[in-house]
Amino acid sequence: MRSKIVAGNWKMNKTLAETNVLLSELTGKLPDTTAEVMVAPTFVNLAAAVQDVSASSIQVIAQNMHFAENGAYTGEISADMLLDIGVDTVIIGHSERRAYFGETDAILAKKVVAALAKNLRVVFCFGEELEDRKTDNHFKLVAEQLKNGLFQLDASAWSKIVLAYEPVWAIGTGETASPEQAQEMHAFIRKTIANQYNTEIADSVSILYGGSVKPANAKEIFSKEDVDGGLIGGAALNADDFIAIISAI
Ligand code: 13P
Repeated sequence: MRSKIVAGNWKMNKTLAETNVLLSELTGKLPDTTAEVMVAPTFVNLAAAVQDVSASSIQVIAQNMHFAENGAYTGEISADMLLDIGVDTVIIGHSERRAYFGETDAILAKKVVAALAKNLRVVFCFGEELEDRKTDNHFKLVAEQLKNGLFQLDASAWSKIVLAYEPVWAIGTGETASPEQAQEMHAFIRKTIANQYNTEIADSVSILYGGSVKPANAKEIFSKEDVDGGLIGGAALNADDFIAIISAI
C-alpha cells in the first residue's frame, strides 16, 4: 500500500517566530490520520522546525539541496547538512526552481542521485506549463521530465521517491486542475513508470497533486484513485487551512 501524504511547501515565507507559531498550531490541532504530514520551511528555520515538531508525527523536509557533497558553492546546502539537523526528505525539481533558478532536467537528475546516495527521500516535482496543455503537449512533456529526471535510477531506488505532479498553470493562480485532469495525468504517470520499470513500482509510488489545493477542493482531488495526496503552497501557510486539507485525506 502506498503512503498518503500531505506536504506543505512554505516556499520563501515565515520568519523564525512565525515558523514557531505555525508549527505550534499544527502540532496542537493535528488530526488523527494515517497520512504522512510534511512541512518544508525555509533553510534557515529547518533546525528550529525539527525541534518544534519533535513530539509530533509531522516531518520537516527541505525545499532544495545542492548535488555536490561539499565545497565552493556559495549559498548552497548539502545533503549532509540536512541529515545533520534531522531532515531526511528533500523536494527536488519544483517548477519555481526550474523557472527562476535555471534548474534543468540534467541538474535535477544529479540532485536526485546525490540525495539518494545519502539515503534521503526525494519528493520530485514536475508538470507542464499552460502552453503545453493548450497545445496538447502535456503528456509528452511530463514523460520527458520523468525520463530525464528519474529514469536513470535503478528499480531499487524507487522506494525513496515520491512524485509531485504540479501543473505550472495551477500553482499560486487559484486555478486548480480538475479532479479528472489530475486523475488522468496521475494514471498516465503510473503507466509511464510501469512501462519503464514494472507495475509493482508504479503501484507503490505515491503521486501527489500540487497547484491551488485548498480546503474547498482537497477532498474531491484526493478522492481520485491515483492521487495519493497533495503538495500544498499557499494554503499550507495557514494552520486551519492546512489542517482542513489533512483532514480531507
Ligand atoms: P499553491 O498551492 O500555492 O498553488 O502552490 C503549490 C506548490 O507550488 C506547492 O509546491
